[in-house]
Amino acid sequence: MLGAPMSSLSLPALVTLGGVAAVVAFKFLSYRRKSPALPCPPGPDGSNVPTSDPWAQYRAWGKEYGELVYIQNRNMLIINHARVAVDLCEKRGHIYSDRPGAPIMDVTGMSDVLPAMRYSPRWRHHKKLFHQTFRQAVVHRFLPAQYAKIYEFLNNLITTPEDFMQHTLALSQRVIYSSLYGLDIGPEHPLPRKTVEAVGIAGSFLVPGTYPIFDRFPWLVYMPSWFPGCGFKVRAEECRNIFKETDAILYDMTMTNMRTGQGTSLIAELATKSGGLPEEIDAIKSVGTASFLAAADTTMSSVSSFLLSMCLDPEVQRKGQEEIDRVVGTHRIPTLEDRRSLPYVEAIYLEVLRLHPPLPLGLSHNSIDDDVYRGYHIPKGCEVVPNIWAMNRDPDIYDEPDRFIPERFLASEEGPFRHIDGNLAFGFGRRTCPGRYMAENTVWLTIASVLATLSLGKAKDEKGQEIDIPGDFTNVFFRHPKPFQCSFTPRTPYARDLILTTALDEK
Ligand code: HEM
Repeated sequence: MLGAPMSSLSLPALVTLGGVAAVVAFKFLSYRRKSPALPCPPGPDGSNVPTSDPWAQYRAWGKEYGELVYIQNRNMLIINHARVAVDLCEKRGHIYSDRPGAPIMDVTGMSDVLPAMRYSPRWRHHKKLFHQTFRQAVVHRFLPAQYAKIYEFLNNLITTPEDFMQHTLALSQRVIYSSLYGLDIGPEHPLPRKTVEAVGIAGSFLVPGTYPIFDRFPWLVYMPSWFPGCGFKVRAEECRNIFKETDAILYDMTMTNMRTGQGTSLIAELATKSGGLPEEIDAIKSVGTASFLAAADTTMSSVSSFLLSMCLDPEVQRKGQEEIDRVVGTHRIPTLEDRRSLPYVEAIYLEVLRLHPPLPLGLSHNSIDDDVYRGYHIPKGCEVVPNIWAMNRDPDIYDEPDRFIPERFLASEEGPFRHIDGNLAFGFGRRTCPGRYMAENTVWLTIASVLATLSLGKAKDEKGQEIDIPGDFTNVFFRHPKPFQCSFTPRTPYARDLILTTALDEK
């Protein structure tokens, strides 16, 4: 055939040739369009990425290098502005919805759990199940558990106020155990402690630069844990074992309860409906693990940031209380039905999530293809880090961005009642937090219930002097207030009775 004149080619051959030419031309054009000849965005050398308060350094780099900060030797793009995050992670969700998928994630067991899962049919399957369980139209099913645990929380705050940080964590965990498994698991049980430990370990692997030796020699992940320099693998394996163990224990407990007539649960119902198919059971167990993993520290962070903000700003606290007294009255604790009538409380909620996003760097997205954005080449496999902490402090959007000012949401044209999808604390695009409706209800209800019944202030020492609150926050991956001293006093004797009776009613 070689060298044959065109006219001598058969029609099928011509069609095939035309098709090949079209594919080559398309590939060539798309290569030109995404040509690596375009520069990557500017950025620093990645040998010294900070591991403590990385979000602050990332913002500083943004001031130095511009809107897109690219770290060449890590193939990592830092985004400090919401509009860029929306352009890439939302509008180009078909490219930027993967997760980094480092091999260490397999060792920790995280790659089997939705938040760290690769963008794949398996992710779609798990996300669908998650969506069915936590979508806006159905989250009211969790309200009884949420009210019950919040009333218990109020009771704990007045009976053992010195342990309020533990109570805050316990609130977040118990809402999940109760809502999903129908289990009442308190902080005295070994499971919550173990899971928090695993979440801490998993989080440390998500922060670039935490294990410098592993950063330099990534192949170490394939070596046995006794190999010199592989200490990090022991921790990663510990994490995996804890996930497996908690998965199995919680699932068995809830299924036994159902079988023995002690009560059913959402997980038990899902398992029954699934017909026992192993991959379905696997996905259902994973919903439980993913919820716990993603919900406990984030919810705890928001609630404790709220408590801290109220201690530091008595005037905001007073205004929130005044609004509740005026609108709801003092005879009951607000419910979700009161939400639209309480704009100032809403503004407090929004300001807590703006100034103190629990995941300041969200969760990294990864690109599955080369891309061109604003004249820059963004390579395939790029880790995209949304710096939510910096976006929420953008001085072009917020006046005095570092201050806690709920009034900013009352003054803005949009007002305080906004759609949750605009709340950057919950992330972007196809990977947006699927638990956001449930999370919002827990955090909002806790804020309203605390304001309605308690006065928060600085604790006093034995000489009656107020103990200063430094207002420090943790600085790796999850961000929440470091332990501080605080006083919780029922606002009136009636408020005390209200707390005691509602907590008793829920038992
Ligand atoms: C205040 C509380 C919470 C905050 C601030 C929060 C924030 C986030 C953020 C920033 C992400 C990453 C989004 C992205 O990749 O762009 C995320 C993912 C996720 N969250 Fe939440 N979250 C909260 C509570 C919850 C709760 C209560 C649940 C479940 C019951 C949950 C389940 C998840 C899951 C499963 C993912 C992974 C989604 C995926 O990768 O496709 N979160 N969350």
